[in-house]
Formats: sequence, structure tokens, C-alpha cells
Amino acid sequence: MIVILDYGSQYSQLIARRVRECSVYSELVPHDITLEKLKNMQPEGLILSGGPSSVYELDAPRFADGLLELGIPVLGICYGMQLLVSALGGRVERLKEQREYGKAFLKADNTSELFVGLEDSFMAWMSHGDSCVELPAGFRKIASTDSLENAAVEDARRRIYGVQFHPEVAHTVKGLDILKNFIFGVCRARPVWTMANYIETEVQRIRETVGSGKVLLGLSGGVDSTTVAALLHKAIGAQLICMFIDQGFMRKGEARRVVDLISKYMHIQLVHVDAADRFFARVAGVSDPEEKRRRIGNEFVRTFEEEARQIGDFQFLAQGTLYPDVIESAVAGGTQARTAAKIKTHHNVGGLPADIKFKLIEPLRWLFKDEVRKLGRELGLHEDLINRQPFPGPGLAIRIIGEVTPERVRVLQEADSIVMSEIKAADWYNKVWQVPVVLLPGVRTVGVMGDQRTYGMTCAVRCVTSEDAMTARVAHLPWELLEKISSRIINEVPEITRVCYDISSKPPATIEWE
Ligand code: XMP
Repeated sequence: MIVILDYGSQYSQLIARRVRECSVYSELVPHDITLEKLKNMQPEGLILSGGPSSVYELDAPRFADGLLELGIPVLGICYGMQLLVSALGGRVERLKEQREYGKAFLKADNTSELFVGLEDSFMAWMSHGDSCVELPAGFRKIASTDSLENAAVEDARRRIYGVQFHPEVAHTVKGLDILKNFIFGVCRARPVWTMANYIETEVQRIRETVGSGKVLLGLSGGVDSTTVAALLHKAIGAQLICMFIDQGFMRKGEARRVVDLISKYMHIQLVHVDAADRFFARVAGVSDPEEKRRRIGNEFVRTFEEEARQIGDFQFLAQGTLYPDVIESAVAGGTQARTAAKIKTHHNVGGLPADIKFKLIEPLRWLFKDEVRKLGRELGLHEDLINRQPFPGPGLAIRIIGEVTPERVRVLQEADSIVMSEIKAADWYNKVWQVPVVLLPGVRTVGVMGDQRTYGMTCAVRCVTSEDAMTARVAHLPWELLEKISSRIINEVPEITRVCYDISSKPPATIEWE
């Protein structure tokens, strides 16, 4: 295992993902982890991440005393490199000019283990305001750029390396090769982190934990909960009960599809709760988006709780918590080992009352999203399930601006279903993040159908590209596709007479309208 000490870089998780892409397990831990805990993890190598601090600041984050005496190979990236250099007696200074940010051409010494097999110059991604101006005893420079003398350094004898650039980002073209050189060449780690091995270990672990008990899983049809279902089913078969709550705000035909898929094709015991009436009653007359979300969330927990009681005894509740959630709550709560059962969306059940006694099972808690997809494939899930676009827990209810009624949901389902089928047919589904269709309130816009003036509703189509939903840009869909979508909606959904395309970016606009 490679352990990554987190100094707060926006790329810390990315480092962990890159290491895992090399089939070596990695974990991200707080930088102030104790030596004892670190030793218990038995790391084959350590990576110190970048971070926003400067080593010469008084309260700059450091690492536990004795860390460099453990004899474990270390790679410092950006701030991590500066920290190593300053801890070992070198000197770090603020750059004379302003911060260096962007691509830089690197000349590297490929006699160093870190750069073996690479060309002697390549592009690297820089983002720093400080630099190492004097190296500690035992260190030598192994790469530089026109403006930066010590772009990478090593003390090969002690197996300590530092790079000022970011090998984890895609802009550093040979970045993955450099990480591989560290992981395999320097650390001698073995590439045993595969999803096939993960299944084997988790199946074993689940069987040991569950024994002859029963597990309840709330299923949404999304890739996370479906993968949990497949994994648990493999481990404990009929001891797994899944519950799917249809709140009435799914896409057209979606509830049926999820139920068919799970019960018919995966042969999993499924309780299908058709709760549309009670959800519609809860949101009747509510226009405020946050109030809508709150009511839907509460109703979800209440429904789950009532239905769970019907099921009878179960001792475990399974959730599709992923590693980024675990890291986030570890940062917030200060412990790595335990996550407060976090309610990720309205589909993940939290807040169940204390008198239902259960233990949590979170078999994806060590995985990143891309690994969940790999795991799903390894478990034989259909590609359509694996490549699903994300869909908000409260569903179409937050895509209906203003009051949510069964009629308005039906109208939106029709329009949404046309958009999705055209986006899929034109091969855009897997190229974009999401394609919300939003039904606008009030404005009755005029249209002409035949010889008659008609008044109808307006819907907005939004299609965005994004890496992680933090930022998003409008997808450049071809005009022909947009026109086809518009004319089909207007022809086939009589209630809608006008279709707009939302061209705003996030920020400042969010992806959803509410
Ligand atoms: P925004 O609109 O904040 O959305 O740019 C970012 C991502 O989050 C999803 N989203 C939600 N998911 N419950 C959810 O489960 C919600 O209330 C909710 N609101 C937004 C949105 O679809 C996008 O992927």
C-alpha cells in the first residue's frame, strides 16, 4: 500500500486515484497521523501531497517526528517536496517573481530512478509560490526548468524524492510513468489491487460480518446502490433484501426498469414500495426548492422506516458510501477509521430512529467512483447501468419550478423521455455529465398550431459537461439535434409550446435550476 499524507492540495485525491490506476492500493490520511498509526498501515511508500501553505510559516503543517527514519521511501510533491527539503536542513524561499502556474518544459536526468525510461525533457504542470533554493546534505538536483533550478531532487541512498511539479495531473504528460517509477522502481510495490481481488476480500469480509443475519439495502437504481446489491448478493444471496421506494418523481418508465432489472435479471429479493401518493401529498402547494427537498427527504426516511418495520428482523443496513465521503468526514471529524453514516442523497438512508437496531455495512467505502464502475463490470452488471448519468435524489420534483403535481410530473416525464432518447441516439449520453429538462412555471407562452393560437408551458433543456459537478459548461450540441429535440417535444407533448436551451456555465449558475 502507498499512503498519501494530505496537506490540503486540491489534487490529493487524484494522487490516490492515480496510484490505484497502477493496481496498487493507496489511502489518503491526515498529514498529522501518528507514527504508530502509520506503521500499522505497513506502507510500501509514502507520498506527501501538495498544499496551500508555505513551510516557513509558523503553523505550517508538518509530519510526525521520526517519519523519515522509518526507512520507507518518500516522494514529496510540491509543498511535500518543500517540506522534505526544509525538514532535512535545506532552504525554501518565496519566488522572486509571482507564483508559477501552468505548463513548464522540464529537463530531467533519467539516470535517476524516478525518471528511468523517460525522455530527457517533457512538459510538467507547475503551481507554486515557493521554491527550494538550497538542498540538504545528501540531495542532488534531478530536473530543472529555465526558471526553476530544483524542479526535482533526490537522496537515492535514503530513497527520498521530491518533485516541484504535479505528476498526478494529466497536463504532466509522463506523470503516470513517474509515479510508476516511484511505486514499482523505488518502493517495489506489487500490483495486486484489482477489482477481482477486491470482490474476493469483500465477499469474505461481508460473510464474516453478517453470519446468518439479514441485510437491508435501499436501492435507487444508480450505479452505487446497484453495485452494492450485486456484491452483497454474491456474498450472502437470499440474506439480502433490497427496498426500492418509488416517490413518483422518477423518469418515465424508470421505476419499472429498476424493479425488472433487479428482481428478474439479478434474482434479488426486492420490496417495491409505490409511495407516489404520499410524496405528492407532502409536496402539494410547496414551491420553495429547499422546502421541497426537506419534505421529500423526511418523507423518504419515514417511508423507509415504516417499510423496514414490515420486513421484520434485519441486523444490518447497507449503504453505497464511497471513499471520497469517508475522506471528507474524516477531515471533518478528525478520524480516518470511522465515518458518521453520512446521508449522501435522499436515496441513502440516514436518520433512522434508534429503536431500529442495525449495524452499517458499506462495502464500497474504500472505492472511488471509477473503481465502483470497474467493480460493477467485474460483477457482470449491464453497461447501461454502469454508465448512468447521475440523477438527483428528489428526482423530477426539483426540475419542476413551482408546485409539483402529478400532471406536471407527467408532462415533464414525456419531454424528458424525448430528450434522453435523442441524446442517446445521437451518441451524446456518455459524453456529457447530465441533461436536465426543466419545466417552467406560470408563463403561458403563445404558439400557433394549425390555424389556432395555443397557450402552453415552456421547458428548458440543459446539457452540461463536467468533471465532478463543481464546475460545468454548456455542451455544444449540434443545432440539428437541438432542433429535433425542440420539434419533437412541441409535436408530441401538447402541453408544451416552447423549448429553450440553457447556455449558462457553473459557476455562477448551478446545474439544476432549483
Ligand atoms: P447543482 O445544481 O448544485 O448540482 O450544480 C450539482 C450536482 O448535484 C446534483 N443535485 C442533487 N442531488 N439531491 C441530490 O441527490 C439534491 O437535492 C440535488 N441537487 C443537485 C445535480 O443533479 C448535479 O449533478
